[in-house]
Amino acid sequence: MPTRSEFDVIVIGAGPGGYVAAIRAAQLGFKTACVDRWLNAAGKPALGGTCLNAGCIPSKALLDSSLHYHNLSHLLPAHGIQAGAVMIDVPTMQARKDKIVTILTSGIKGLFKKNKITWFPGQGSFLSSNQIVVSPHQDSNDRSVLEAPNIIIATGSVPMALPAIPVDNRYIFDSTGALNFQVRPKSLGIIGAGIIGLELGSVWNRLGSKVVLLEANQEFLIDIDREISKEAHKILKKQGLDIQLGTSVESATPTEDSVTIDYKKINGEIQSIQVEKLVVACGRYPATSGLGLENIGLKTDDQGRIDVNDDCCTKIKGIYAIGDVVRGPMLAHKASEEGIAVAERIAGQIPSVSHETIPWVIYTHPEIAWVGKTEQMLKDNDISFRVGKFPLRAIGRAHASGETDGFIKILAHTETDRILGAHLFSTHASELVMEIVTAMEFSASSEDIARTIHAHPTLSEATHEAALAVHGRTIHL
Ligand code: FAD
Ligand code: NAI
Repeated sequence: MPTRSEFDVIVIGAGPGGYVAAIRAAQLGFKTACVDRWLNAAGKPALGGTCLNAGCIPSKALLDSSLHYHNLSHLLPAHGIQAGAVMIDVPTMQARKDKIVTILTSGIKGLFKKNKITWFPGQGSFLSSNQIVVSPHQDSNDRSVLEAPNIIIATGSVPMALPAIPVDNRYIFDSTGALNFQVRPKSLGIIGAGIIGLELGSVWNRLGSKVVLLEANQEFLIDIDREISKEAHKILKKQGLDIQLGTSVESATPTEDSVTIDYKKINGEIQSIQVEKLVVACGRYPATSGLGLENIGLKTDDQGRIDVNDDCCTKIKGIYAIGDVVRGPMLAHKASEEGIAVAERIAGQIPSVSHETIPWVIYTHPEIAWVGKTEQMLKDNDISFRVGKFPLRAIGRAHASGETDGFIKILAHTETDRILGAHLFSTHASELVMEIVTAMEFSASSEDIARTIHAHPTLSEATHEAALAVHGRTIHL
């Protein structure tokens, strides 16, 4: 007989959407349970979902390690700092990354304890619209049935598979496998020059692998600001990334110690390359398998997402869905904000999530970050705007640190001067973009940033100057 327990709120999934929703629900006084099926490399249940275990955190740990390695031979000599033979010990780098993941995922365990959230490791599945059955990993007889009037689906997403190119975790990997290489591959192919492809490609390129990215689109990073796309393409190519646009991979065949990739160029020409390892990084797919949506009559759309309204309510009263499993960007911070908002809504509050001001960051070097509208979007919607742009090469602090590539661009409404978007290509763009996100949240004008005193010398002076540039009054250019 399964054990039965009653809660006020059940959250399925403990990624940044689910665990944050659970904490907020518990803070608001709800008796809260969180079900999650994640098993770490040691086969142990772990909280934190994709973000902490196989996404944001491990990828940024490797990006930082590889940047230090790269800087030793590329940036520091100009500072007069010479090192002897520079070596990379990949297992140590990976052990550091794994330790960070353990610290952070254990931290969530601690937060659950502090907030008295009951964690059920295992697969959660709907029995009815207010009942979830949890099948634990080890003993399928030891099932629990949880009941609650409020259920939040936060099951996230999984790597998109290419049926013709199955992941074998020996030669062909998805992003999870690619975060765990213990040996630097001499050559690495990546299908997809999107965010994961560029971040993981940067890691191994910096460490000395020959990296080729095979991208179906003819344009590089098709959805971002066109000037940044062009400049980033140029700089990333200069860093050594071989970015092949307009290529469609036909097949990948593992051989004795490599993979042969056959791909078609846009002109129909078939080409072939051999790489030691291949990563498939061509998007992510909402995770709804095994969730039992059919038992409650909840359908997914043509992209596999659970349909929700602006408030993350599904069509069934008391059932909500948040994060990667619903519409909108697949980003950790978006998932978390939706989680907080849903918990507060269950408590009768009226929160809102501002989709217009969700920041995006691609952690290449320099970083690419943006918020709000692109020029193209504004043109498509007949919104008139001014552009203020300022290069890092005219910023003292950028020179002091030897990081002068890139620029910051602010778009503001022609009549109202309200900031409509910002596009950054710069070292530390991930931090710099937040000033503009905050400004936009307060409906600020470019004049507001232009009149704000920015510390000197800082990179944020480029934001200040970009705001001044909107009305043609830069000082340092
Ligand atoms: P997830 O984090 O995917 O969590 C869902 C959880 O639900 C998982 O633990 C899963 O095991 C569990 N689950 C699923 N189905 C069930 C079920 N039926 N029963 C029980 N449990 C279930 N985003 C950023 O914002 N910044 C970044 O720098 C960034 N880097 C990334 C790097 C990589 C390599 C990858 C792959 C992703 C990255 N992302 C990044 C995206 C980010 O990880 C996701 O947007 C985020 O994790 C989504 O959160 P979520 O809570 O919706 O889902
Ligand atoms: P993506 O959508 O960013 O990029 C996938 C790329 O693969 C696209 O450019 C697409 O054109 C290409 N592609 C698709 N099918 C292809 C094929 N058959 N052959 C060649 N190219 C093909 O998806 P990605 O990189 O997998 O990341 C998934 C999501 O995870 C991101 O969209 C983002 O939401 C999130 N993420 C966020 C990060 C961040 O915030 N820094 C980091 C990593 C992931």
